Amino acid sequence: MPAHKSIGGSRYSEQGEGEAIVFLGEDAARLADGFAGSFRAIALDISADDPVAQVRRLLDDLGISSANLVGKGRGAALALAVAAAFPHRVRRIALLETVPEHDATAPVLCPALIVTGETHRDRAEALARRLQRGRGAVAAAGEVDQVLGAFLAERLSSFDNRELRSAFGSFMTGVTIVTTAGIDGQPRGFTANSFTSVSLEPPLLMICIGKQAASMEVFRHARGFAVNILSEAQKDISVLFASKRPDKFDVAEWRAGPFGNPLIEGSAAWFDCARYQVIDAGDHIVLMGHIEAFSYSDANPLGYARGHYITLGLEQAAVNAASSASRTVVGAILENDNRLVLLPDASRPNGLVLPEVGRHGHSGSASQLHDLLQREGMDATLGFLFAVFENPGTREQCIYYRGEALLHARGRTVLADFEDIPWDRLPDEATRSMLRRYAAERKLGRFKVYSGDHRQGTVKAVD
Ligand SMILES: Cc1cc2nc3c(=O)[nH]c(=O)nc-3n(C[C@H](O)[C@H](O)[C@H](O)COP(=O)(O)O)c2cc1C
Repeated sequence: MPAHKSIGGSRYSEQGEGEAIVFLGEDAARLADGFAGSFRAIALDISADDPVAQVRRLLDDLGISSANLVGKGRGAALALAVAAAFPHRVRRIALLETVPEHDATAPVLCPALIVTGETHRDRAEALARRLQRGRGAVAAAGEVDQVLGAFLAERLSSFDNRELRSAFGSFMTGVTIVTTAGIDGQPRGFTANSFTSVSLEPPLLMICIGKQAASMEVFRHARGFAVNILSEAQKDISVLFASKRPDKFDVAEWRAGPFGNPLIEGSAAWFDCARYQVIDAGDHIVLMGHIEAFSYSDANPLGYARGHYITLGLEQAAVNAASSASRTVVGAILENDNRLVLLPDASRPNGLVLPEVGRHGHSGSASQLHDLLQREGMDATLGFLFAVFENPGTREQCIYYRGEALLHARGRTVLADFEDIPWDRLPDEATRSMLRRYAAERKLGRFKVYSGDHRQGTVKAVD
């Protein structure tokens, strides 16, 4: 049995690690003992005149942003009341062998389980119907712990988190670096696309930071933070700050802003903010900032959608190139199993080219490129522009996409390792220099996306 401790006037016992469960009312100590193997199990002595405030204070004092509440006897009514009063502090509630009265004007939004014996089934089900996500369960006295265990082990959302993330990713955003001078004199920062402007009067903005981020606690307590909106020349900075590297601020160029938070050089805009509000929200916290100073330039902002960076300048240049009077070459830098896809060049013995259309005869187009790839036995995902330029030798406008290719038939394709590209077999210096840049950026891990599940954000390469 763990020793009783005292905090803020409350007596409680605590054991185990992981997601927090606070047991309230009858049987609390025995239940906490039973669940300490897989949870941070806390048994609270309900003592105060205002027990709802007592539970809230306990969570604050123990630094628990949200907890599961399990109540029995008068603890059941208390769990229900806390869930109604402080919805964002309660993950789910379980009411054991007790069906308390419920005030329907105070909605309970979290998942709720009411476990009773057969005789109280109807009352439990009636209460469950009045709660947004409630359900009743019938269990014999000896089976209650087991039913409770199964409920606590359930995933909170019935969605596939990767699918949900992909749906969110359809919303095209910019990319920011959020920084803070921190509380320990060490600057911190991370890449974020959850930026939103909130209010002009007073001037407010917000961003969300995942609870798994190494710097989350520093941001939660910092007196302020800065949001740097990246320009399209700053993909590398985005990748750097999306990493766990401890030397982010040694590598990036920055200066202290008027309110003291780090400003990244070359950003399209920045906002230096004082902490306005911190809101707990599931597996993230929302940081709302009061803007103390800001600035912006006319640099093109960097875009982000479906896990890819988007550069407006490049898209615009492609439109201009395609509508210009000169001939347009449309091609692709495609990878198959980490190797570069090349095709024989019919016009030069032993020559190789990227898959491309329009070099000879009429201008090429994206649909002709698709037809060529089909004919060569490839199924390719294009869509992201890599380069748009005028070839100085031929005056052609060149538009190159990047992507992945599946090979249905090997056909005429030649696959080259990026460390061993046959440079002298390529048609011209423009192609070589573009591929050198591609190979270098690929090595730096530039083509990366923010991904992960609800527990852990990770950054992984996609293409
Ligand atoms: C384009 C992009 C957008 C991201 N947006 C967010 C975000 O809004 N919130 C967040 O917590 N993490 C976001 N991430 C992930 C973090 O940058 C990443 O987890 C980082 O490692 C956190 O740094 P830290 O663990 O050193 O604190 C994003 C990553 C990328 C590449």
